[in-house]
Amino acid sequence: MDPAESTVEAGAVKSAGGTGSAREFEVCPVDQLPPGGHVIRQAGNRQLGVFNVDGEYYALPNICPHQTGPACQGKYLVGAVRAGEDTDWIPEWIFDGQVMVCPWHGLEYHVPTGKCLAFPNISLRRYHVFVRDDMIMVRL
Ligand code: FES
Repeated sequence: MDPAESTVEAGAVKSAGGTGSAREFEVCPVDQLPPGGHVIRQAGNRQLGVFNVDGEYYALPNICPHQTGPACQGKYLVGAVRAGEDTDWIPEWIFDGQVMVCPWHGLEYHVPTGKCLAFPNISLRRYHVFVRDDMIMVRL
């Protein structure tokens, strides 16, 4: 299977313990999530999209605030077009390789910040992602 493909894993990933109320979950080995790739994982009762954007990992909830669509399962790591007074309304390409598009109605999200491009007051929660012993981990 191409590790850069969108994949949905059935069942929860293993809990790796954690301190206090934080819980940590294995996502996948580092070599299974190359730059430009993403995976979908169940972590506890949440489904997350985990992305590799230019070597940095990000985890976002796989649920769109618009109408609860699977936000992380549409187009991912594309860019977006914007225009405004500051560009004299000339369209420009922004966030190349950093945007995912909800498959239900097309809202675009900037993966590194979780911000919705059309509605900047809407942001997806971001989860802490880190690497331990070549395993990508997420902390809830
Ligand atoms: S549910 Fe995501 S854009 Fe509508």
